[in-house]
Amino acid sequence: MLTKPLAKISIQSKSGESAFECSPGEPLLYAGLAQGLTLPYECATGTCGSCRGRVMSGEVENAWPQAPGATAAKLKADKGDVLLCQTHARSDCVVRVPANVVAATSPLPPPRRRAAGIALAKLLTGDVMHIELELAEPMSFEAGQFVVVEPPDVKGGRAYSMVNHGAALGRLSFVVKRKPGGGFSDWLFGRDVTGCELSLFGPLGRAVWRPSEDRDILAIAGGSGIAGMMAILEHATRAGHFARRRGDVFFGVRTSADTFYMDELADYVAQAGGNLAVTVALSHEPVADGVSQRGVRLAHGFVHEVARDAMRDRYGDLTAFLAGPTPMVDGAIRMLLTEARLTPDRIRYDKFA
Ligand code: FES
Repeated sequence: MLTKPLAKISIQSKSGESAFECSPGEPLLYAGLAQGLTLPYECATGTCGSCRGRVMSGEVENAWPQAPGATAAKLKADKGDVLLCQTHARSDCVVRVPANVVAATSPLPPPRRRAAGIALAKLLTGDVMHIELELAEPMSFEAGQFVVVEPPDVKGGRAYSMVNHGAALGRLSFVVKRKPGGGFSDWLFGRDVTGCELSLFGPLGRAVWRPSEDRDILAIAGGSGIAGMMAILEHATRAGHFARRRGDVFFGVRTSADTFYMDELADYVAQAGGNLAVTVALSHEPVADGVSQRGVRLAHGFVHEVARDAMRDRYGDLTAFLAGPTPMVDGAIRMLLTEARLTPDRIRYDKFA
């Protein structure tokens, strides 16, 4: 059987030239990251626009011409602008990337494509599901990282943060919120998917927390964005971080019927000896002042606004972690830059559109 040849992708970046090989059908971004290059990205799924590049020569295919990231990055298709996460090579190519692209120095192996099977799928609320994927080979990943999951028969990948973290793990845990018309969530919620096989790419993401980071933690999450925060809370609790540093977590959902992980959050509060506060913000349900469940405070409002009111004049030496829908994350970033006057290096985020 004839196999299609690998394409050679030459990158021209602010830090010089580099190159990698790309197999047919693999996004340029994934191939470059898997070969240890620091190509720019945030969502890895076509929504943010941060992986922009310009094809100077060669033939490419755009997997998702309507990707919101193309609009966000104001790409000029007639000039050869592309999203690296949505572009496949049909020949050798030269691509200009307006960023520094160098060899990655992470202590972890680079991300790569992996096979997995769904080992467990369990409803947490009417539209939120806990799923566990069994990996064909173990993977090491940090608290706060994510993977792009590609189920069979569903076009495109979806990014999900892991609820767990650790070295050489055989299982990944996620929380998935059903989205009306969402191809993956319709596939997941519409049948018994236990035992189904899928492909994933990862681990990805730089919104990670490490025990060596001696700062307070501020976490603001919307909906299933709480997944990565649960991994960070677990790691920080186990490392004894809240014995000397403070944590403030804000978790936004629409109503109390949409809450999940309440017992786990309450347990983290109880273990932190007064140094961890968790607030659940209900955007579509009024809440009386001072209401709490097992030490988890309830408040009414959009999560970044609840966080702003609660944190006013209390920003100290902290790192902020943000995860959730793009409008929520953008609103929180604006608030942290303008009101809290945090520098961008203190803000780490994942946007899931
Ligand atoms: Fe490609 Fe976000 S990383 S659009």
